[in-house]
Amino acid sequence: MELDMHKPTVLVTGGAGYIGSNTAWLLANKGYQVVILDNMRYGQHFYPSWARVILADFADQTILDQLFTHYNVQAVMHFAGLIEVGRSGKDPSTFYQENVAKIFNLLNKMREYQIDKFIFSSSAAVYGTPKRIPITEEDPCNPVNTYGNTKYTVEKILQDYSHAYGLKFVALRYFNAAGADIENMLGERHEPETHAIPLLLEAADKGEPFYIFGDDYGTPDGTCIRDYLHVKDLAVAHYKALKYLDIHKTGIFNLGTGIGVSVKELVATVKRITGLSVEIVVQGRRDGDPDRLVADATKANQILGWIPEYSYIETIVADAWGFYQKKDISMHCDSDQHCQQRSTF
Ligand code: UFG
Repeated sequence: MELDMHKPTVLVTGGAGYIGSNTAWLLANKGYQVVILDNMRYGQHFYPSWARVILADFADQTILDQLFTHYNVQAVMHFAGLIEVGRSGKDPSTFYQENVAKIFNLLNKMREYQIDKFIFSSSAAVYGTPKRIPITEEDPCNPVNTYGNTKYTVEKILQDYSHAYGLKFVALRYFNAAGADIENMLGERHEPETHAIPLLLEAADKGEPFYIFGDDYGTPDGTCIRDYLHVKDLAVAHYKALKYLDIHKTGIFNLGTGIGVSVKELVATVKRITGLSVEIVVQGRRDGDPDRLVADATKANQILGWIPEYSYIETIVADAWGFYQKKDISMHCDSDQHCQQRSTF
């Protein structure tokens, strides 16, 4: 895609990933020029016709200089980073490097070019084990894993940058992103996959067991409760956050539905939607799993005007299943030409 140097542009780091690609697509449809900066280290080949894709690290100073010099970048949405909670505890050095240290390159380049809007992918992991449910943004943040620590640390950096340098930012604390945009085939392709819904669908499809991590939690059926949010609703929240920054300076918002779904309820939904059976094996608890994480998203509802539309567990699982069935033949590149393009600048 040829870029127009005057058109309002949003830089989307990690835009070849699951949530980033869904958001990038929405932004392109809202009339923004979208530049995706992604190192595609996890094997994606994502070169859609509706965005310019730069195959590079989000902290690459030379690329950022070129981008910020030549294009009218008005905001940065930062999705790039590591997400596996389990790995974060075993390899904190890499997690702090990728999720925290490298962000200074990006934020300082933004300062240099006077780009002052930043939207950050934070996480419910900042709360740790919550004292009450549903969780509001005012509740204490005590992350219980390294991943959560990195997200909370970046929130603090953003607050300091805002205070000292006038950075405008929104941190969006996602609860459990799930589902897919099956029209555009934008869904989950994590490698390795650790998330419950794609693993359950794979177990159902392949006739393999699904392992439940603990059924002795203090919940009605003994399994963990999470707040699953459709990725299409998540994308809309980012667009609303961008609009919010036209008027406001900072904001931190929970993104969830307020509805909790247990792992056993997920299993039942997957069986219903796929019509397949799933063999369940109960294992011990996974480290760092709180028994319940359910959002109070009143603030996002009222201030951003964000109301989830697709986040019913049946819709989420049906869309994730639609994506799962077609993902190997999906158009991850709109054309060979786009796929072959390995953009630098
Ligand atoms: N689960 C299983 N078996 C599996 C995978 C998951 O029982 O094979 C359970 C988990 O223990 C958890 C629930 O299913 O209770 C959901 O697990 P996910 O791995 O899908 O999601 P998490 O709640 O662990 O993680 C999500 C985000 C993280 C974020 C975290 C906040 O994916 O990025 O919420 O706590 F950090």
